Amino acid sequence: MANLSTTYMGLKLKNPLIVGSSGLTDSLSEIAEFEARGAAAVVIKSLFEEEIIAETHDNLNKMNASGFIYPETMEYFDFDRIEDPVADYLKFLKDAKESVKIPVFASINCVTANGWTDFAKRIEDTGVDALELNVFSLPSDFNRTAQENEQVYFDIINKVTSVTKLPVALKIGYYNASLGNFIKRLSETPVKGIVLFNRFYNPDFDVNNLQFAPSSVFSTPAEISTSLRWIAIMSGRVQCDLSASTGVHDGFGMVKQLLAGANSVQVCSAIYRNGKEHVTYMIKQLEQWMDTNGYATIDEFRGKMSQSKTYNPAAFERVQFMKYFHDL
Ligand SMILES: Cc1cc2nc3c(=O)[nH]c(=O)nc-3n(C[C@H](O)[C@H](O)[C@H](O)COP(=O)(O)O)c2cc1C
Repeated sequence: MANLSTTYMGLKLKNPLIVGSSGLTDSLSEIAEFEARGAAAVVIKSLFEEEIIAETHDNLNKMNASGFIYPETMEYFDFDRIEDPVADYLKFLKDAKESVKIPVFASINCVTANGWTDFAKRIEDTGVDALELNVFSLPSDFNRTAQENEQVYFDIINKVTSVTKLPVALKIGYYNASLGNFIKRLSETPVKGIVLFNRFYNPDFDVNNLQFAPSSVFSTPAEISTSLRWIAIMSGRVQCDLSASTGVHDGFGMVKQLLAGANSVQVCSAIYRNGKEHVTYMIKQLEQWMDTNGYATIDEFRGKMSQSKTYNPAAFERVQFMKYFHDL
């Protein structure tokens, strides 16, 4: 029988299927069920940078009330909102880690490198296995250059990895002027993994009422092509592991990403649509495909269809094939 184990960010996973960061992983009972269904790891739903900063603000207010802090420091933080989701998040991470054997990853959604990055140490103290940083802001500010937008990622990595020993992964989007070069340079930092790609909340129009409407929250299997292309282009050329996210809906989607060179895949929409038992089904499909094709381990076929190994590099590079556009 095939051995499905893989390594991702230095962690040994029993198979490549990780339940991606979402509401799927925000209860202990669901995490335990994912473990029982065979998932190799879970990424907990993200805490937002703003929530961390708001907690810091709350602490500063308390310190200020006791005459403990300079007024200028207070002015720097101008948040009105004071909430305490942070303590809950840290407790949840600790409880989740203690309740299952599979690796548990924390996740922070962030857009700046200011005011929150020390928090990574508190995440490490919960005992979780890794930290995923979902970093993205749409590059729509006309006054910011590509270089300024990119620098934020490097600043975040430098600050976070200076306070924690946890393996850190970056989950990124694909809106970038020079994506291949950017991913390569990110991989040369201390990050241990890059997740390609985050899926965005996209706008749509309701043309009858002239209102904005969100597009579907869930991906379709057809959406696998963007991450498949970029995993295939980047694998073998980066200094860290790659995890595929968006559009992996069945075991064959998982096989495709492994053939492209991924170390793991992250799945959300397919589980939302088909239920937790879909995890077991996907892993079974991978196993059957490996048995049928004579692969005993994942390393025997990982990256076999990556751009660097394929006889047809143009398959990933050409985006406007003459034959498609002429023949139709
Ligand atoms: C309901 C829902 C909630 C999500 N919440 C988060 C989140 O908190 N943090 C994050 O990094 N990604 C979040 N995502 C994005 C998923 O982790 C994933 O990247 C995306 O859904 C694409 O994968 P899929 O095609 O398997 O759904 C969420 C997705 C869904 C559908």
